[in-house]
Amino acid sequence: MSSLTADPSTENVRIEFEDGIAWVILNRPQKRNAMSPALNREMIGVLDALELDERCKVLVLTGAGESFSAGMDLKEYFRETDQASPIEVLRVRRDSMAWQWRRLMYFPKPTIAMVNGWCFGGAFTPLVACDIALAADEAKFGLSEINWGIIPAGNVMRAVAEKMNSSDALYYLMTGDPFDGRKAAETRLVLESVPLAELRERTRAVARKLLDKNPHVLRAVKLAYRRVKEMNWDVAEDYLYAKAGDTYASDPERGRAKGMDQFLDKKSFRPGLENYQREDK
Ligand code: COA
Repeated sequence: MSSLTADPSTENVRIEFEDGIAWVILNRPQKRNAMSPALNREMIGVLDALELDERCKVLVLTGAGESFSAGMDLKEYFRETDQASPIEVLRVRRDSMAWQWRRLMYFPKPTIAMVNGWCFGGAFTPLVACDIALAADEAKFGLSEINWGIIPAGNVMRAVAEKMNSSDALYYLMTGDPFDGRKAAETRLVLESVPLAELRERTRAVARKLLDKNPHVLRAVKLAYRRVKEMNWDVAEDYLYAKAGDTYASDPERGRAKGMDQFLDKKSFRPGLENYQREDK
């Protein structure tokens, strides 16, 4: 595994590359990986760099130490900007939203959130913006905003509405009660939870599954899914036929033709059960 920072000025984020996986590690363990304006700015640069970096085929977002992230930094993001100019406040909010959902949600490679520990408030936004979320049974989640007198902004509430079932969402939004990884999976906030000791290996296994797929088609699948959720059925039908045609025509590895050839002619695989044999993984 090679370890480096994406950019010499990246102090709050660490990246480790491992066989196609880029582990992006929020790295302020002494502050429970709370997201400060500096960290947010760095994450924009990290995502921009990884989008074009061949070593990153799947991105895993996680946190150093015992936390995923304790949410927005109450001191640096909130208190210190209370007296800032309106332009400065705009800039700080823009940087935060730029990576926590805009860039992350539409990142052209698959993304996995690996929730290894504390996950509060603002951290729900990047968590939900990832394609897949896996948690440790022992992780502790909380919509703690109510506990310190604010409503969950920073698109946290929107993120919650996207994934959590509404009975749980309202209960946890209104009480601020913490809940563990198992409960997070039960509410559908995350896909599944496993014991902390198995979390990294489970994440690796899911990442490897994605690495086996045709990356061009994978990219189209995740972007199309996010787009069609906002469309009515007529528009979605039109869009999906057009997108399917475009994806096929521009696929450098001609996956569709290979898949059909291997199934219908060579009879060497069954698409219902596995991926076609790719030559240039
Ligand atoms: N913003 C700023 N600083 C934070 C922080 C946050 N969201 N979360 C933790 N920290 C800092 C603490 O101020 C403390 O700093 P210090 O050592 O300089 O005093 C350090 O991180 C460790 O925090 P501590 O509370 O002692 O750690 P803990 O392991 O006992 O508890 C938490 C961990 C996450 C339960 C607790 O820190 C907490 O409740 N954090 C706030 C979570 C929150 O409400 N986030 C929502 C923000 S939108």
